[in-house]
Amino acid sequence: MPTPRSDALVFFGATGDLAFKKIFPALQTMITRDGLDLPIICIAYSHWTLEQLRQRARDSLEQAARDKGVAMDEAAFARLSDRLQYVDGDYNDPATFTRLKQALGEARRPLHYLAIPPSLFGVVARGLRDAGCADEARIVVEKPFGRDLATARQLNATLHEVFPEPSIFRIDHYLGKEPVQNLLYFRFANTVFEPVWNHHYVDSVQITMAEQFGVDGRGAFYESVGAIRDVLQNHLLQVTSLLAMDAPVGNDPAAINAEKLRLFRAMRPLGPADVVRGQFAGYRDIDGVAPDSDMETFVALRLYIDTWRWSGVPFYIRAGKCLPITTTEVMVDMKTPPMSVFDTIEAPQSNYFRFRLSPEVVIAEGARVKTPGEAMRGEPVELVARHDSAPEKSPYERLLGDAIRGDNSLFTSDECVEAAWAVVDRVLNHASPVAIYEPGSWGPAAAADVVASPEGWHDPQAEPDAPC
Ligand code: BG6
Repeated sequence: MPTPRSDALVFFGATGDLAFKKIFPALQTMITRDGLDLPIICIAYSHWTLEQLRQRARDSLEQAARDKGVAMDEAAFARLSDRLQYVDGDYNDPATFTRLKQALGEARRPLHYLAIPPSLFGVVARGLRDAGCADEARIVVEKPFGRDLATARQLNATLHEVFPEPSIFRIDHYLGKEPVQNLLYFRFANTVFEPVWNHHYVDSVQITMAEQFGVDGRGAFYESVGAIRDVLQNHLLQVTSLLAMDAPVGNDPAAINAEKLRLFRAMRPLGPADVVRGQFAGYRDIDGVAPDSDMETFVALRLYIDTWRWSGVPFYIRAGKCLPITTTEVMVDMKTPPMSVFDTIEAPQSNYFRFRLSPEVVIAEGARVKTPGEAMRGEPVELVARHDSAPEKSPYERLLGDAIRGDNSLFTSDECVEAAWAVVDRVLNHASPVAIYEPGSWGPAAAADVVASPEGWHDPQAEPDAPC
């Protein structure tokens, strides 16, 4: 059944970093390309005026244009700027919500977007309810959704006091990425994968999320989360669930969510022996970071999924800052042929599926073909199914548009969030100290021990240009 569109966007935390980097650029594109036509009411407690907010939005769009190497589109900015309203106030003060109610005017179905710390979710949700701004509203919350299983449960309970589950949209921006959706599509729009997508044929799976940059400018935030909370519990376990889940019975959110939930619940909870934590040298000198910090900027681990399909197949996952390259890549390594009929295969692993999720979008299959000549000798090749340099929509454009339409397919449910926390819960309290690694390396030496096979980790390389 179609759900009614939201008729206003209310944006808490509008003076913050996320708004500057992601939300203003996404909103401008949504206005110019998709004809988004809603009042946009920004809220913050920064003692700003509407003019200051507009200037901030302009700075954000100028920066976004510079990053793309294009000129700022003044006409498009004027359309965004016209829609902006600003309410300044303390979220603990009911008068702030009274002013919001006035600003909403005739709007009856606002979408409230909370780009604020989770500790404020409860106070804002209750403020909205008490001012009559929550009745037919939806709420979008940003990660991190809790700090562990217990706090995630509390947060869910707090939000449920005011909003029913179908009106809560928990953002994991990885789910809005085109190549991440393609994982699901590619697997279930083809027949060839299902017969081999299991422990009979798959040897192991590797997921690497590498970032060349560090945490400058976000030291205090990062110090309170670390790599496990920042990207593993959410982005990387979500990618794992799409890679490993069973076929949903349909393309509706409930069907997809049900399979993802089954998969999350089958992930064996991680223990300290499964995980290596690292910290890049120099992290402790960053503003906002404790001089004796034990927070990880790198994590590598071995995960098992206890289902009939995946029994015994290790999923190796690693993520880190200050690594040699910025990219996220999945490698599904297939088992080697049962015997060697032809040449001794020098390449240790030739059969694989490779999904490059960023910055490029690549779906490729590794195979061996015979090299010309009399001898039955071969070489590894890659068959490329998709190779794009950049996806056309940013995740925030996609997800905000979906939330406005009330489509929650690409958002995480309360049960999935809690099940994902249950996987990492035991490794959040650090059993052993972080191992220091050099910036520009692939993390601490101990990370190599996580992978059982002699070939070790596949270190993603810079992607060659797309084939013509
Ligand atoms: C965010 C993390 O959720 O995802 C960041 O907080 C990380 O630390 C970022 O850099 C990566 O997202 P993307 O889309 O740039 O790959």
